[in-house]
Amino acid sequence: MRSAAMIALALVACGNARSPAAPVPAAPDRAAGVAAFATVRAVLQHPRCQNCHPAGDAPLQGDDSHAHAMNVQRGPEGRGRPGEECTTCHGPANPPSNYGLHVPPGAIEGWRMPPPEQPLTFVGVAPRALCEQIKDPARNGGRDLAALRAHLDTPLVTWGWAPGFGRAPVSTPYPAFIAAWETWAAAGAPCPE
Ligand code: HEC
Ligand code: HEC
Repeated sequence: MRSAAMIALALVACGNARSPAAPVPAAPDRAAGVAAFATVRAVLQHPRCQNCHPAGDAPLQGDDSHAHAMNVQRGPEGRGRPGEECTTCHGPANPPSNYGLHVPPGAIEGWRMPPPEQPLTFVGVAPRALCEQIKDPARNGGRDLAALRAHLDTPLVTWGWAPGFGRAPVSTPYPAFIAAWETWAAAGAPCPE
């Protein structure tokens, strides 16, 4: 045990060793963070994302973000009204492509929208207000920046890049979205004026 600990310590020490000339990488500055947030904002307000983050209580559909057919509503927990839950129609995965167009997409996590106490509205919110909202633990489900970053790997988010047959994925590639998010966060999550 003891020697393993010593080796671990030695590795940590080596990993931290820098020649005096090697500069410590600088955190991105505010301007870089604000510029990166423009990419993040475009993703949040892409129809694949904002359709579950509407201003009202009806989820939205399609590239024009029209109200969900059949008067589907958020319900008491974001899972639909009793007897008309999202998962009645939305399964644990997208149906196979040979089912054709206009079938309900799905995700393993259980299809739902944010609950009414914390609706996480993305539709129609100005960039500065959107930026302040998503990083505010009082309005984002109690998440700090690390928890928000972890959330981006969860199935309802990654679904946006594999949304099922006939639906356009989010136009910004996923790696570019994550890179922009991480630049914004590393700059201290600055918001545009
Ligand atoms: C099927 C509905 C659905 C889709 C599609 C969806 N979300 Fe969400 N989103 C939710 C729910 C529900 C929550 C609340 C999460 C929780 O409490 O577990 C949430 C929370 C979030 C949060 C954390 C809270 C906040 O506002 O800071 C972020 C960020 C987010 N979503 C981003 C996205 C992005 C980006 C996409 C598209 C790539 C997306 N969402 C697509 C349902 C969805
Ligand atoms: C009665 C069945 C049914 C119920 C219940 C239902 N949906 Fe849907 N939903 C569908 C169908 C069908 C589609 C596909 C429509 C299309 O592609 O034209 C769809 C599509 C969607 C989309 C569109 C994805 C996109 O970006 O175009 C979202 C978001 C969505 N539903 C959210 C929800 C939420 C959230 C709930 C629960 C509050 C829910 N749905 C309940 C049948 C249902």
